[in-house]
Amino acid sequence: MDQKTYYITTPIYYPSSNLHIGHTYCTVAADAMARFKRLTGYDVMFLTGTDEHGQKLQRVAQENHMSPKEYVDKIVGGIEELWKTMEISYDDFIRTTQERHMKRVQQLFMKMYEKGDIYKGSYEGLYCTPCEAFWTETQAKDGLCPDCGRPVETMREEAYFFRMSKYQDKLLEMFENNPDFLVPESRKNEMVNFIKQGLEDLCISRSTFDWGIPVPIDEKHVIYVWLDALSNYITALGYPDEPEKFQRYWPADLHLVGKEIVRFHTLIWPAMLMSLELPLPKKVFGHGWILLEGGKMSKSRGNVVDPVVLIEKYGVDALKYFLLREYSFGQDGIFTNEALLNRINSDLANDLGNLVSRTVSMIEKYNGGLIPVPGEEGEFDASLKATALEAAEKIEPLMDRLNFSGALEEIWHIVRRTNKYIDETTPWILAKDPGGKARLDAVLYNLAEAIRIVSVLILPFMHNTAKQIWAQLGIREGEGTQWADVFSFGILRSGAKVEKGPALFPRLDIEKELADLMALQKGEEKDRKEEEKKQPSSEAEIQERISMEDFSKMRLQVGEILSCKKHPKADKLLISQLQIGEKQMQVVSGVADSFTPEEMQGKKVIVVTNLKPVKLRGELSEGMILFARDEDGSQKFVCSEAASGSPVK
Ligand code: ME8
Ligand code: MG
Repeated sequence: MDQKTYYITTPIYYPSSNLHIGHTYCTVAADAMARFKRLTGYDVMFLTGTDEHGQKLQRVAQENHMSPKEYVDKIVGGIEELWKTMEISYDDFIRTTQERHMKRVQQLFMKMYEKGDIYKGSYEGLYCTPCEAFWTETQAKDGLCPDCGRPVETMREEAYFFRMSKYQDKLLEMFENNPDFLVPESRKNEMVNFIKQGLEDLCISRSTFDWGIPVPIDEKHVIYVWLDALSNYITALGYPDEPEKFQRYWPADLHLVGKEIVRFHTLIWPAMLMSLELPLPKKVFGHGWILLEGGKMSKSRGNVVDPVVLIEKYGVDALKYFLLREYSFGQDGIFTNEALLNRINSDLANDLGNLVSRTVSMIEKYNGGLIPVPGEEGEFDASLKATALEAAEKIEPLMDRLNFSGALEEIWHIVRRTNKYIDETTPWILAKDPGGKARLDAVLYNLAEAIRIVSVLILPFMHNTAKQIWAQLGIREGEGTQWADVFSFGILRSGAKVEKGPALFPRLDIEKELADLMALQKGEEKDRKEEEKKQPSSEAEIQERISMEDFSKMRLQVGEILSCKKHPKADKLLISQLQIGEKQMQVVSGVADSFTPEEMQGKKVIVVTNLKPVKLRGELSEGMILFARDEDGSQKFVCSEAASGSPVK
């Protein structure tokens, strides 16, 4: 029989800066869903990627003195690294700068053009550059962008247009005939009202910048980001020129997107697909935002939460659990360190962690470390089993409604019921009673069995924890660890050897952790500001002339690199010990991409020796080694033959 398929996507993120916890939210949800569908027998295609073209990225790259490609390569590298750390199980990662994508977008453009759905016109409108969106006067009230609140500018240009207006009625029909196409429901009404006000044709090209996919018939123009970006969902499947995967997985089962881009996914995207005469996605889910107490997280406001910091301290599973349990997926929620730490302590350390460690300890103590043969049934057994089996039955329908927090809540019903079962059956009293062994065996078995069911149910959310539980309970993967096995109570193998491991989630001292996190966040902020200070932030600053007096303030000397090592906390940094004449100093340099510590060692380099010392991610840097940047962006040594300590003038 042909396996059922499930195609799920995340938005493709803008690589304009590193991702924050808000971005990880959507991807963590998609990952849980993909893992759940694989577990329940689907052939899953899970796609994510990056949206790399457009004026904003071109501008950001320029500010960083890099070409757009150099810049996006660097940020995308970091994004892939983040997903690796978070163990995101995507099947494909599409970058809109890849050849496979670019050539297919041009093919799509031509199909729509030849059909008469794309035409050349001219456009004047109020434009928001950060959002890359044109707005009407009524939308941009008081000259401000309705999405981000920043001022819009009037722009006029010759451009290509997509005949959105032609699809207005069909879009309305689509919403009417497919009540589940867009969820949550509230977002649907908003879209229907939007269509009813009348859809204008959509500007899909730009000639004011060139960082984009060229319009195939007019090289002055590049294809504007939304046509480029939305197409990723089908170009990644090989449409149109290699349609094998496309035929297998299209239409998508689920596009997961943040609420601010629902409009693009439920109006523009379906209209494009209608023009291409392709089936429409089955569902778009518009999730809420993770906010900070002061409002939305944003890199430009400098108030982002770095997921890497939280993962380093508390682990991937804890963070994933928190994100999906704490917030109602459709709605906005507020991130606080307190909420995270409280969840970890109450649900993970107390409820789940304790249950596992108590159970394993009791099996070690009362049954020689072996899972017993279930003995004598007794009071509370039926209730425990019923709770486990009823909860298991509820998970699939909850997941299909994207109710992650509801699904986890059901699983924790089992965890709490099982903890209560320990209190009710009091194994330590049974152990003292010579006639209590048969009953004790049943209790211990039931505890381990309930935990087995929990371990399979949490697989989509926290697979590391599930596997640690199996190791402790002597469960082999494949033995009672499949989805079908959550619907039977009593299949755990007797005689398996349990093995106590480290606490799944050590209990946290909340006050101490809060102080730590605060210090870390402050430290990062300071590091960032210091790094910014080190680098001129715009072309203008570089061009500014300095006086001889300015120059003479700088002390340059020849220094010999005695030894060099990698920075323990930052991939890009190297820490060198330098001999400068009589003196030694430590310098941190951002050149790990270009050199190994071995290549650094022994070099005689030029060093700025009178800089104010700074700490870079916790390591003292007392000066700066000068490097030259080659045409291709790589760093090269600036070496000297003079003796160490010689002044450079
Ligand atoms: O919009 N809370 O990319 P983007 C929750 N390239 N989710 C958040 C969030 C927050 N605070 N911040 C971001 C784009 N997100 C386009 C998409 S798709 C064809 C093109 C998530 O980098 C949320 O899912 O701005 C949002 O939709 C996505 O990041 C936008 O990422
Ligand atoms: Mg956005």
